[in-house]
Amino acid sequence: MAIRLGDVAPDFTAETTEGTISFHEWLGDGWGILFSHPKDFTPVCTTELGGFAARKGDFDARNTKIIGVSVDDVASHNQWSADIGETQGTALNFPLIGDENRVVADLYDMIHPNANDTLTVRSVFIIGPDKKVKLTLTYPASTGRNIEEVLRVLDSLQLTAGYSVATPVNWTYGGDVIIANSVSDEDAAVKFPKGFTRIKPYLRTTPQPNL
Ligand code: BEZ
Repeated sequence: MAIRLGDVAPDFTAETTEGTISFHEWLGDGWGILFSHPKDFTPVCTTELGGFAARKGDFDARNTKIIGVSVDDVASHNQWSADIGETQGTALNFPLIGDENRVVADLYDMIHPNANDTLTVRSVFIIGPDKKVKLTLTYPASTGRNIEEVLRVLDSLQLTAGYSVATPVNWTYGGDVIIANSVSDEDAAVKFPKGFTRIKPYLRTTPQPNL
C-alpha cells in the first residue's frame, strides 16, 4: 500500500554498504531521507549518488541522515561505488542498501509496475524525528532529482515544524513566509516581532522567524 504523509515510515533491517542497519535505530532522533535508485551501474543514478555525496555536508548541517536503496546486492553496490568516486568526484559517503530481494522497495511501494515491473522509480521519503513521513517525491527513471529542491523542501519542513508558518511558492531559505491562518492578528504581533504584512486577511507575510 502507498505510504502517505503522516504515516510512520516502515521500519526494516537491511544490509548496506556500511553494514547491517535497523532503520529506525539508524535514524536516531534526527531527520532522515530515504531515496531509491532503479539499478546499479546506470548513468542517471551514478550522477545522483555522486550529487548526494557532494552535498552530504548540507544534509549533516540540517541534522539529516541520508540513505539510498537500489535493488542490487551490497557487493554490486561496492563495485559501483568505485565508478561513482571516479566519475563524479565524490566517493559514496552514506549507506546504500542492498535490496536484491526488493524488501525495502516493496515496503515503500517503490516499484510502479505500469512504469517498470522490476526496477524502482526514483522515490524520496523525508522522515521527521518522530519517524513520520513528512514528504514524498516520485520521479521516473529518466529524470534525475534536483538536490537543491530536496534541501529547499527540507528547510521548509524544518521551519514549519517549529513555527506557525507556511512557505510560499518558490520560497528559499531566508525568504518571507506566510503566517498560518490559525494565528490571529493579535497573536501574530507577539509571535512575529519583526512585524507582518496583511495583504489579505488570509494572506499575511513575515520575515523568516528563525533568522
Ligand atoms: C539511469 O539511472 O540512468 C537509469 C536507470 C534505470 C533505467 C533507465 C535509466
